[in-house]
Amino acid sequence: MSLDDDARAELEALDAAGRLRTPRVIEGTTGPTCVVEGVELDNFSSNDYLSLAADPRLVSAATQAMEREGFGAGASRLITGTQASHAALERDVADWMRCTGVRLFNTGYAANVGVLTAVAGSSDRIFSDELNHASIIDGCRLSRAHVDVFPHRDLGALEALLSSSGNRGRRRIIVTESLFSMDGDIADLVELRALATKYDAALIVDEAHAVGAHGEQGRGLCAVAGVVPDVIVGTFGKSLGTFGAFAASTKAVAELLWNRARPFVFSTALPPAIPAATRAAIEIVRGSEGDDRRRTLARNARLLRELVPGAGGAPESAIAPIVVGEDRATMALSERLLAERVLVQGIRPPTVPPGTSRLRLGLAAGHTIQQLERAGRLVRDALRYVM
Ligand SMILES: Cc1ncc(COP(=O)(O)O)c(C=O)c1O
Repeated sequence: MSLDDDARAELEALDAAGRLRTPRVIEGTTGPTCVVEGVELDNFSSNDYLSLAADPRLVSAATQAMEREGFGAGASRLITGTQASHAALERDVADWMRCTGVRLFNTGYAANVGVLTAVAGSSDRIFSDELNHASIIDGCRLSRAHVDVFPHRDLGALEALLSSSGNRGRRRIIVTESLFSMDGDIADLVELRALATKYDAALIVDEAHAVGAHGEQGRGLCAVAGVVPDVIVGTFGKSLGTFGAFAASTKAVAELLWNRARPFVFSTALPPAIPAATRAAIEIVRGSEGDDRRRTLARNARLLRELVPGAGGAPESAIAPIVVGEDRATMALSERLLAERVLVQGIRPPTVPPGTSRLRLGLAAGHTIQQLERAGRLVRDALRYVM
């Protein structure tokens, strides 16, 4: 069989299992509404939680940077790819996150893989929440460390693993998301920090879905909890509305990432327009407009949960999952809502564990009360047919 034959067979198997994924093209900008095939949809499938992705101030910052610094970076950061906008963004993030060292990454995926492979090796042990994002899972695997996966948010199970691991392993690392991407629930960061300290482990927290959306100046859920992890990974492609990611830590860790994080070392730097737009986004997010947007987002999150009592996740989280279970039923619900011009993506394995396929509503500061009420009513109606 040729590669093409194999690919066709695999796609047919995915289709038969109800798990084939197909692209959807957004015409124009993305935001609380978007246009697909000429039809305007209410968009509840985006991670653009603060509705900044199409903001003209970001576009203008990017345009000005392109005029100043050109389009491509032309090399990796280590060679000649560090331009003024990259260096300035690393300084801005250090100030924002109140830490001494920051490293940018081209994506959150690269950040998790880069951090975990740089700080852990084959003689180390990583303790990873079972619902951690694929990029954390891949980072754990590529690090070659021994990986203990603990049941989701089960601190008793984590402590049992930590205490039974003895001194085996040079370094111990606990890794978790703060706001879980598919469940919208929140890790107990205070207890995780306490366990890490008790067992002399490092704590790495992926705040991909929390920076921007939570905390004073949008500094995330660690800041809300008053917890200082050893590394915070944050992404710019969600609440900040741009692209790329960061690892915030100490000066020495940031320097180690510069030398050792393979996705950083062996990749061309981001086009400078992207860090420039991100700097503009951070300025908005840190200021009073950021506070207003976070307040509206929290109101929208609470309202949606009142309208759809089956919606899960923490009360003010922008991620509101409705677990349906079966893959095809989930996709049928999503199609039904789409026919009403409401875009709610169905999420299937391998993104979520088998048997837990779900609708995942992503809320945004830009959603209006009318949009939420209409979507809430339609989701409730649709659910009557399957639940
Ligand atoms: C928890 C978490 N970490 C990391 C990432 C990856 O971020 P990026 O989209 O910037 O690669 C995602 C995004 O999908 C995520 O949900």
